[in-house]
Parts: sequence; C-alpha cells; structure tokens
Amino acid sequence: MSTNSTPVIAALEQALADTYALALKTQNYHWNVEGPNFFGLHNLFEEQYTDAHTAVDELAERIRALGAPAPGGFQVFMDTTKIADAKQNTDATTMIDDLAASHETMGETLRDGVAAAEEARDPATADMLTARLTIHDKHAWMLRSLKA
Ligand SMILES: [Fe+2]
Repeated sequence: MSTNSTPVIAALEQALADTYALALKTQNYHWNVEGPNFFGLHNLFEEQYTDAHTAVDELAERIRALGAPAPGGFQVFMDTTKIADAKQNTDATTMIDDLAASHETMGETLRDGVAAAEEARDPATADMLTARLTIHDKHAWMLRSLKA
C-alpha cells in the first residue's frame, strides 16, 4: 500500500497483486502438471489463469480511473501479495490443494475490499470486487471437487 493511498486504492492494489501472483502460479501448474488427469487439469488451469489475466487488466484500469498510478512490477507485486509462489517439483494433488487455498485467501482479501469500497461509497469498485469474489469462490469449489 502506497503512503498516500486511500483504502479503496489499497484494496484494488491488493487484489491486483494477488490476482497477478495467482495467475502466474496457476500458469506454472498448467505447464508442470503430470499424471493420469493431465488434460483435465492442464485445461482447467488454463481456464483459470486466463480469467485472472483478464481481471488483472480490469483491476489496474480501475485504479487508473480512480486517479492513482497502477502498480506493475514483480518487486511491487511480491511486496504486496499474500499468494505464495508455485511449489516446485510437486504433484497434481498438492497443486490442487495449493490453488484451492489460494483462491480462498483471495476470497478473504476481496471480502475486505468490498467492505472498504462500500464504506467509501464506491459501488463500482464494490461491484467489480464482488464479481471477482464470485469467480474465486467458484474456482475454489471446482478445485476442491476434483478431490471429492
Ligand atoms: Fe498452454
């Protein structure tokens, strides 16, 4: 969070950094997953990181629309995000667990962001973050369901 940031900008910066980190982790697992469910997982991960990449652009442009500069570098994203990097040399089950947990972490962050936007009487940002929350809840459910 930048020092002159509002709570809404901070929430968008957090969502942006987390979404970028989760997109990168998901794409890493898309590349490296192996096993009998390769095609299903490879394709599901692609669907999920493609969604996240689209969201990154929307979140960054919302920050610009509110008059703040959009952060966009590995260092600033690493300093901001709560999403850990992809685990290396790991198996499909660990990847699924890690991604599901990351989507749940995103959900907590986004719930806080929606509250900050509502507090600031910014329904457009609240709506955008609510839409992202719906998607991450869905992705978490789909990942958890792979193991049922
Ligand atoms: Fe690919």
